[in-house]
Amino acid sequence: MEIKAIRGFSDILPPATRRWRMLEERAREVLEGFGFSEIRVPILEKAELFSRSIGTETDIVEKEMYTFEDRGGDLITMRPEATASIVRAYIEHKMYAADPMAKLYSIGPMFRHERPQKGRYRQFHQINVEVFGISHPMIDAEVMAIVMHYVSLVGAAGCRLQVNSLGCPRCRLPYTKNLRAFLSDHLPHLCEDCRRRMERNPLRAFDCKVQGCQDIMSEAPLVSDYLCTECADHFAAVRNYLEALGIAYEPNPRMVRGLDYYTKTAFEVVAGGLGAQNAVAAGGRYDHLVAALGGPDIPGIGFAIGIERLLLVLPDESLPPGPSLFIAALGEGPQREAFSLSYKLNQVGARTMIDYEGRSLKAQMRRADKFGAHYVLIIGEDEQRSGKAILRDMKEKKQEEIPLPSIFEEIMRRMGEGSP
Ligand code: HAM
Repeated sequence: MEIKAIRGFSDILPPATRRWRMLEERAREVLEGFGFSEIRVPILEKAELFSRSIGTETDIVEKEMYTFEDRGGDLITMRPEATASIVRAYIEHKMYAADPMAKLYSIGPMFRHERPQKGRYRQFHQINVEVFGISHPMIDAEVMAIVMHYVSLVGAAGCRLQVNSLGCPRCRLPYTKNLRAFLSDHLPHLCEDCRRRMERNPLRAFDCKVQGCQDIMSEAPLVSDYLCTECADHFAAVRNYLEALGIAYEPNPRMVRGLDYYTKTAFEVVAGGLGAQNAVAAGGRYDHLVAALGGPDIPGIGFAIGIERLLLVLPDESLPPGPSLFIAALGEGPQREAFSLSYKLNQVGARTMIDYEGRSLKAQMRRADKFGAHYVLIIGEDEQRSGKAILRDMKEKKQEEIPLPSIFEEIMRRMGEGSP
């Protein structure tokens, strides 16, 4: 029987891989420009890292993690997100020692056992961005500006920034008390999950996907109405800095994010046309996470962009392939010539392909077409004898003769002009 990929796990095939690379390359350029450095963290971590950071009552930890016992008996999780791992690495390598400020980014796959649907997969990819050591509201505005700049740079249409403040443990205390009281008034109509979470983590009732609970939660008290002076001032300053940078945003007092570590600023970049999974990117401040994972008291803020979701809101044009050359050779001598010429061109990065099987010119031209060749160089035995080859421009539909001894230089010269 044929073996297929696991449900919710996708192959990314050519030519789509080119768009993926474009998105990753643009992200690197933008982030390096804003002073970020790349960090690469493992895909597997101890399960405890995620329960301690994301929170034990969250959907991610309760229902979605790929967790298993490895051969040594350790409880291991395939990372559902990257923030926890990056915080762990930041602490483990004492990256705060000389200066707590660190701007880090990472790109890679994440794993959540969710029900697959449009924009929701079990393996998906994030561009993850984290800033440590800055509590000033300027950085909140800057990270939001970065994500908005990036999505517009790559051509994502209709992205809107929604912002909220989730307060700090100080203002969360009276708020949770009131939210709990509200939930207990509606107890008979709540689902089992919400009833269970009500005591330990009532905020998570906002994540519930059951319609009845969602209706109830639309009337629930809002954390933004309970902010302490420090949190309210911080939020006002963040909005001010966003305005200073000319970044349009919408306050969304109902956004709570599905992870427990957030404090103060939380945000999502949403796009129309994505249905229920409308967040292309999301993030927020996490001022107590470094300490909660055993590090010093250092604030953090960041976000992650979902690459699959971003692709869903990009215009559907395929990227034109770079200039390329196909060498069609007829006969054994020309084939040898094509083989070494192609190798020389490939070595200097000139996208070049040959036919290996010595087939007819027609078959080779078909392959050149599939390769998307801008130029086809034809070397036959006659051409080889006369020391010339034919270079056909497939776009302009014209051809010329090129002397074989200078063929490499001729092609390289054209490549400099944007041709092969
Ligand atoms: P998150 O909201 O869980 O946050 O995920 C961030 C983004 O990843 C989402 O907005 C979405 O684009 C994408 N995403 C999440 N789950 C899936 C899925 N099942 N399929 C496809 N795409 C998905 C975090 O992960 C935080 N670590 C973000 C962060 C970084 N906060 C601070 N720093």
